[in-house]
Amino acid sequence: MSAERNQVGIIGAGPAGLLLAHLLAQHGIESVLVENRSQEYVQARIRAGVLEQGTVDLLVSSGAGDRLQREGLEHGGIYLQWPGERHRIDFHELTGKSVWVYGQTEVVKDLIAARTQAGHEIHFEVSDTSVTDLETDTPKLSFTTADGTARTVACDVVVGADGFHGPSRTSIPQARRQTWERTYPYSWLGILAKVAPSTDELIYAWHPQGFAMHSMRSSEVSRLYLQVDSSDSIEAWSDDRIWEELSTRLGIEGWTLDTGPVTDKSITPMRSFVSSPMRHGRLFLAGDAAHIVPPTGAKGLNLAAADVAVLADALVEYYRDGSEAGLDSYEERALQRVWRKTHFSWWMTSMLHTSGDDDFDRQLQMAQLRYVTSSPAAATSLAENYVGLPLAVRSVHQ
Ligand code: FAD
Ligand code: DHB
Repeated sequence: MSAERNQVGIIGAGPAGLLLAHLLAQHGIESVLVENRSQEYVQARIRAGVLEQGTVDLLVSSGAGDRLQREGLEHGGIYLQWPGERHRIDFHELTGKSVWVYGQTEVVKDLIAARTQAGHEIHFEVSDTSVTDLETDTPKLSFTTADGTARTVACDVVVGADGFHGPSRTSIPQARRQTWERTYPYSWLGILAKVAPSTDELIYAWHPQGFAMHSMRSSEVSRLYLQVDSSDSIEAWSDDRIWEELSTRLGIEGWTLDTGPVTDKSITPMRSFVSSPMRHGRLFLAGDAAHIVPPTGAKGLNLAAADVAVLADALVEYYRDGSEAGLDSYEERALQRVWRKTHFSWWMTSMLHTSGDDDFDRQLQMAQLRYVTSSPAAATSLAENYVGLPLAVRSVHQ
């Protein structure tokens, strides 16, 4: 076993870990980045698709946004719909901001390319990842490389950006951890289809048979979602059944949903989850390692990016000035945003998904949908949360 030294150890080459490594490198801070999956796997993992203005600004200002600027689709609003009515929420008019449709797969590819081109390594297909000595000045990141070499790297700080199932969060002593969780009684069935989108902007649809959404990835690729039962298996959903259900739930007079070959299909459970603390000694958690939101409202990836922006800011300050003030306030700064987005994602989810036959709930959902589509104050509240609240960071934008 070899003993090594690095400045920052990062576990996980998802959006959070890759973006952090990239932002740190922009400021001359070195990191060792480990990932237990292969490069092909992480680049093909189909997940989120909507970037907030702040996430886009961060990627662009850090030099990783060239392709995003060329290929990303800028959207100035969304449609909210229920049977017989489709309404547009105009983000531009209400907030002056936009969102960008650009797949998580593409963000991950761009960040991997940026790191590789800068001559920095990503250790893919590692095993036995663990962190120790967290309460000392030199926390250790240990892993076994793809070729079977056991390595231990002593760092100044270790960052757990290893998603919900990674080992970082559970390496914080159980007695220190507090979690808040809600599991929703439904899941999302998502498809990717080789067909031009039938809409210019995303459609979020309430329907008595369940929520449906029309999103996209490009002028030739559509992304669509259906609310299904938590107990449903993907085998129960043939492509024909999916298209039929999407056409019904998204249907409105004078509009048709174009169909095409389905190239990917999966079911994702819906969960809200927050874990605190996001720091233990010299271990910091970022992204899904510390919190999960249900996907309605497209906040998961953006929240991961926001954590990392705050953490990068704190680390830049630490290495530049020797000040730990930013590191000490990381949790507080991150958690405020986390809870805001946890509320927004829960609210969007509750407004749009059907659950049981309770007519009281349905009447409340209709009242809420009518309110957000008719009151400028309510529409602005939705819009400012959807496009993202400002990132309270300093150095990483300079
Ligand atoms: P992740 O993307 O999970 O990255 C963590 C990385 O750590 C992974 O690459 C993982 O392989 C790696 N890792 C794990 N364990 C280890 C280990 N032991 N050693 C080394 N590396 C390890 N958000 C939306 O906004 N819209 C959506 O439609 C949407 N769909 C989703 C579908 C699914 C199935 C999931 C799981 C999430 C979805 N999300 C969606 C949420 C969004 O994709 C996440 O919020 C985002 O990926 C968070 O990024 P992250 O880097 O924090 O975590
Ligand atoms: C997408 C995912 C979301 O969760 C959402 O709210 C909007 C769009 C998408 O994958 O395109």
